[in-house]
Amino acid sequence: MDSSHVDGELTSILITEAEIKDRLAELSREIEADYAGANVLLVGVLKGAVMVMADLARELSLPITMDWMAVSSYGSGTKSSGVVRILKDLDSDLSGRRVLIVEDIIDSGLTLSWLLANLKSRGPESVEILTLLRKPDAAKVDVDVRYVGFEIPNEFVVGYGLDYNEKYRNLRSIGVLAPHMYDGS
Ligand code: XMP
Ligand code: MG
Repeated sequence: MDSSHVDGELTSILITEAEIKDRLAELSREIEADYAGANVLLVGVLKGAVMVMADLARELSLPITMDWMAVSSYGSGTKSSGVVRILKDLDSDLSGRRVLIVEDIIDSGLTLSWLLANLKSRGPESVEILTLLRKPDAAKVDVDVRYVGFEIPNEFVVGYGLDYNEKYRNLRSIGVLAPHMYDGS
């Protein structure tokens, strides 16, 4: 769907469908150069990363394999706590693999720093991170993110896989959720 289907629920469109597509193409060229000849394992973090994964994987001119993890960072509504629980683990053995974690957004970075340590402990040859979006607070956590799509302001965004109460994931662009949608005003 596009923003006309959620009229009045967003304050602005932050990133358009075309901008996402162009940026993923740029990142794909970097990844192809960095992983030439490698059989990359893309690890998507459910559910938010489904759209990035689907579009990135198809844009890449590399033979990749895909796997998925679902984690829940405790905390409700719009804040994460850093306490992470695995809801669905990977099916793949990571030993000797070149792993690229595919994320939708890094906010505090707590979820990702836990995930990075967890995957590194499984003996892969390398683990790098790609995130479509990064918020300013992520700078406070020492997580080395190899590929960043867009640096965005500290606002709650939805669309392109990102949800609020499971809604808006199928919005083709990325927009700022209007505060009246979550603060009860
Ligand atoms: P941390 O803070 O651990 O959190 O980096 C990352 C996870 O928090 C969610 N998150 C968001 N989800 N719009 C969303 O739809 C946002 O603006 C937002 N900020 C953080 C998301 O699940 C992400 O994986
Ligand atoms: Mg979410």
